[in-house]
Amino acid sequence: MYSEKVIDHFTNPRNVGEIENADGVGEKVSSSCGDRMKVFLKVEDNIIKDIKFQTYGCGAAIASSSMMTELVVGKTIEEALVLTNDEVAEALDGLPAPKLHCSNLAADALHEAIKNYQANRG
Ligand code: FES
Repeated sequence: MYSEKVIDHFTNPRNVGEIENADGVGEKVSSSCGDRMKVFLKVEDNIIKDIKFQTYGCGAAIASSSMMTELVVGKTIEEALVLTNDEVAEALDGLPAPKLHCSNLAADALHEAIKNYQANRG
């Protein structure tokens, strides 16, 4: 049912945690299940230097967030802003249809964190 990449990122999630004095923080609550995702960003020279996440979500949400962090670290803010939910799911070699809403949390929380970063910069 789950791809090897999903199982890998679920059992060994990358970039879990919190960044103190983050440059941007974003949170998203799933309208489907009520689970939540929080993303912390450290940005230097418009590049995402560090990213961490915390989630009260299921295994698919954990795997999606872990993959999302790997996809955007080292990228520019503009590149990260256009990362889509579909691209996260594709990078995991797909997710079962009932779990696609879980993967949406990852990119949505990332985009919220970027908006927060941009608002903080004024
Ligand atoms: Fe809520 Fe997956 S069931 S995030």
